[in-house]
Amino acid sequence: MVGLIEPHGGKLVNRILEGKEREDLAEKAQKLKKVHLNEREISDIEMIAIGAFSPLEGFMKKDDYHSVMDNMKLSDGLPWTIPITLSVTKDEAKNLKEGEEVSLVNKEGEMLAVLHIEEKFSHDKEKEAVQIYGTKDMAHPGVAKVFEMGDTLLGGSVSVIHRVKQENFLKYRLDPKETRQLFKEKGWKRVVGFQTRNPIHRAHEYIQKCALEVVDGLMIHPIVGETKGDDVPAAVRVKCYEVLLENYYPKDRTVLVVNPAAMRYAGPKEAIFHALIRKNYGCTHFIVGRDHAGVGNYYGTFDAHYIFDEFDPLEIGITPMFFDHTFYCKKCEGMASYKSCPHDSSHHVTLSGTKVREMLRAGTMPPHEFSRPEVAKVLIEAMRAT
Ligand code: ADX
Repeated sequence: MVGLIEPHGGKLVNRILEGKEREDLAEKAQKLKKVHLNEREISDIEMIAIGAFSPLEGFMKKDDYHSVMDNMKLSDGLPWTIPITLSVTKDEAKNLKEGEEVSLVNKEGEMLAVLHIEEKFSHDKEKEAVQIYGTKDMAHPGVAKVFEMGDTLLGGSVSVIHRVKQENFLKYRLDPKETRQLFKEKGWKRVVGFQTRNPIHRAHEYIQKCALEVVDGLMIHPIVGETKGDDVPAAVRVKCYEVLLENYYPKDRTVLVVNPAAMRYAGPKEAIFHALIRKNYGCTHFIVGRDHAGVGNYYGTFDAHYIFDEFDPLEIGITPMFFDHTFYCKKCEGMASYKSCPHDSSHHVTLSGTKVREMLRAGTMPPHEFSRPEVAKVLIEAMRAT
């Protein structure tokens, strides 16, 4: 049916137990061995449970794990570019058997889910670093995470008993099932998803609005799961998004929904992953700009565009919308990109992340051609408070 894009793999996964099934497993789980989860694993469970990682029903088994690294596909051939894994140390693994169920708990020891261990296998950290992140450099935040993980992976489906208790951004927390329903109610047939881990500046706003010119609705979908230490905290960013939407976006064509996933900083591989997630949320289009999900100088500026050529567009399903580097051009007197602006860069207002942080820390407003003043004000106040 028009307007309802199929989830990846054809079915929206739901791993949240209810009723008697939930009660029975909750009781059984009290007696099971416990595996403690870190923040990323907790957010991965949430993403699996609500179908945002459809078709995954749990943590990857060996075939899928290696197939994703070798071929950018799950073992059944479906495109997938990021390993979703649960690790334990070798010592912990000694006490766990394939076929066993374990209770997955947070650091306070509260039970969240049960993992049905189908496979126990070796975590190939070097291969993962090279194949997924393109580097073994520990200065890369995604690579550092891989090497921090345990040496053994546990693969199998998860059944969620208690969803993670959320206290922040409650009105923006919609599951894929709910965003799909929302788009239907709004009559949006074509919806573009926007990934971000940053405050939205004019360049971001411009590409969103270019996209919105050709689709029915825009879902701004910022990551609020784990990000690296020097990224702006989610609570501050959400305030930035609120003032921006209030002042500059059409209310009937824009929704803000937070994405509980953790950032990986895997550049091109993460761009595909990000697109598939937004497809599960019901988006038909997805914005990929310059250096999408990149960090440092590990990836080429447009590697996240080129990677889409390696897939059959029908298998990806969601349509990528590629944008060149955008900026304000004083000669054009408006936002533009290298694709649309004929003037040389001396006319362009561009600022490095470092420079912007310096200005904000000093309480100086960046130029309005770079950032909306309402957004800059929120950022300056947040910097003052720290
Ligand atoms: S990301 O890690 O989530 O990709 P960020 O929040 O900065 O980082 O970017 C969100 C989206 O906007 C990505 O698709 C990125 O490629 C795009 N983007 C950011 N800045 C620009 C820019 N100046 N020109 C074009 N695209 C951009």
